[in-house]
Amino acid sequence: MEDPALLSELEPLVGTLLDRHLNNAKEWFPHEYVPWSQGRDFVPGEEWDPDEYQIADGVRSSLFVNLLTEDNLPYYFHAIGNMFGHSGPWAEWSHRWTAEEGRHSIVIRDYFTVTRALDPVALERARMAQVSCGEAPDPPTAMESILYVAMQELATRVAHRRTGKLMNDPVGEAIMKRVAMDENLHHIFYRDVASAAKEIDADQFVIALEKQVRNFEMPGTGIVGFKKHATAIAREGIYDFAVHYDAVISPVVLKHFAVENMEGLSPEADAARDGLMTFIRRLERFSVRSRERQERRATQLTSTG
Ligand SMILES: [Fe+2]
Ligand SMILES: [Fe+2]
Repeated sequence: MEDPALLSELEPLVGTLLDRHLNNAKEWFPHEYVPWSQGRDFVPGEEWDPDEYQIADGVRSSLFVNLLTEDNLPYYFHAIGNMFGHSGPWAEWSHRWTAEEGRHSIVIRDYFTVTRALDPVALERARMAQVSCGEAPDPPTAMESILYVAMQELATRVAHRRTGKLMNDPVGEAIMKRVAMDENLHHIFYRDVASAAKEIDADQFVIALEKQVRNFEMPGTGIVGFKKHATAIAREGIYDFAVHYDAVISPVVLKHFAVENMEGLSPEADAARDGLMTFIRRLERFSVRSRERQERRATQLTSTG
């Protein structure tokens, strides 16, 4: 099915899901979450001192990547607008979504500025570099786009939440939790759109899902040192293959979309599903092994420490 036909068939549901979203979304104010009294003026030329906000390197990397990802909002808006259209319920959704996403960078940046959790000069230079790239994930079809954002919003929720838990600061954790709650509602919206798309064109759904699961990446494109930070984030156990399998692939792809039980697929879709299941099983084995390694390391540390 061509993109315009799929998008227009989904349009009434998008309107209904948007109404549901508006009922479930709670108004919140970034300024109420920021510990302003901890702040002080920056003297021009003052060097940032990492010891002022002590935190593990991987958690600091995660905070850096999470904020810059939120900062890239203009390009997600651009990609989503071009893919889903500029009028009707799809546009109403993408406008509302953009307004909500805007709060995320506001609250996280204000928290960093006040607490000095990150070097403000390095952060601003990195923001300029990333946003000047003008890049964002841009899947080739509407079906792939819906599936990508369904997984990405959930992955982002998990990354924010897990980062917050490691911040050793209840105020910072509350901020990341608040943002993660928004990401969860975004995920649920797209997940339910994806389920409807599955009913409309099951073959295309499976073929698109296989591609998007296999090639999934967080939207860190254009972030300075992204690979290095992603490695540090994985080493810290905040987001790695095992977390991705447990938090995204298993609950959404296996349980919610129930791809394994889909019947009546075309030979091409059937082959894509086989490929997808092989990939997922490999990911599962990899996740189990990496969990076992982490547990062994933790036991060794406790017994030697
Ligand atoms: Fe966000
Ligand atoms: Fe989101």
